[in-house]
Amino acid sequence: MIEAIDVTKSFGDVVALDGVNVSVPEGSIHGLLGHNGAGKTTLVHILSTLLEPTSGTARICGLDVNADAQEVRRRIGLTGQFASVDEQLSGRENLMLIARLLGATRRQAAVRSEELLELFDLSEAAKRPASTYSGGMRRRLDIAASLVGAPQVIFLDEPTTGLDPTSRIGVWEIIKRLAKDGVSVLLTTQYLEEADQLCERITLLSKGSVVAGGTPAELKAAVGQRMVTVTLSSESEVPAAVRALDAAGFRAAPQESGAVVGVPVAASADLAVVVRTLNEAQTEIAELGFSEPTLDDVYLRLTRENAGTPVPA
Ligand SMILES: Nc1ncnc2c1ncn2[C@@H]1O[C@H](COP(=O)(O)OP(=O)(O)OP(=O)(O)O)[C@@H](O)[C@H]1O
Ligand SMILES: [Mg+2]
Repeated sequence: MIEAIDVTKSFGDVVALDGVNVSVPEGSIHGLLGHNGAGKTTLVHILSTLLEPTSGTARICGLDVNADAQEVRRRIGLTGQFASVDEQLSGRENLMLIARLLGATRRQAAVRSEELLELFDLSEAAKRPASTYSGGMRRRLDIAASLVGAPQVIFLDEPTTGLDPTSRIGVWEIIKRLAKDGVSVLLTTQYLEEADQLCERITLLSKGSVVAGGTPAELKAAVGQRMVTVTLSSESEVPAAVRALDAAGFRAAPQESGAVVGVPVAASADLAVVVRTLNEAQTEIAELGFSEPTLDDVYLRLTRENAGTPVPA
């Protein structure tokens, strides 16, 4: 439904996108991740016909964004990085206005506006000017506005930036519901937890290039490391513990602080093997921890690699 093939975009000397490929199937949520200036908004603008790529192809529902821009616009909704609702108008008036601009009759516009106000929990505030809305309400109205035309594809550029945790979860619910109804979603985010929660697949952008892609689980497995952290009852037990674990095939390493040993493992099942090995070596475990890799590990590692800084193994 959303396809970027070898998309490049330069602004003078600045290469904002350098041969980017992205593909989003119907009803799926795709995350575009990257730090400030990575090129996320630029890609969203190209895919939503607001910018022309310098080279490469972008297609929405199989339609070329340049050649069929008009047709593409009828199929997409866009919620930009910065709110675009009219502050003077009420929530209802904002939605009515857009519906009318899209060619709906007064009656159709009213029906659609009521539906969306209801869906986004804005019915009670429908008559108030948007200037009196909280940040979360404004964001919801903004997303509602991009859905007036019942688009098949929606772009959300940092939909939850600046929202409190409760409002953020509210927006996540809305996005999940959209995908369930078959809408294809491309969202940009700086929040790794958001990408992890929502996205089936993720593209990680750094300085205009794709540095990684895949499901959140794949990315974590490729980069992150599962770790068992063992705290022994005394520091004097550390050498024996490390020897026993090494003999059992682990690459155990004493940690900086006191009696702690870190053991990288391949699977959570290895936890039991670590415990057994330490018991057999007659070392006493005071505390045991197990950590899964997070998307933060992936992000930090890959964006650092791309910046040319060597990454410790
Ligand atoms: N109209 C423009 N003219 C010149 N340079 C631009 C223009 N638009 C974007 N850029 C540059 O392209 C690069 C990518 O910008 P973009 O806005 O796509 O990043 P982003 O990933 O959305 O960042 P943020 O997280 O801050 O929103 C940046 O270096 C930016 O300065
Ligand atoms: Mg941006």
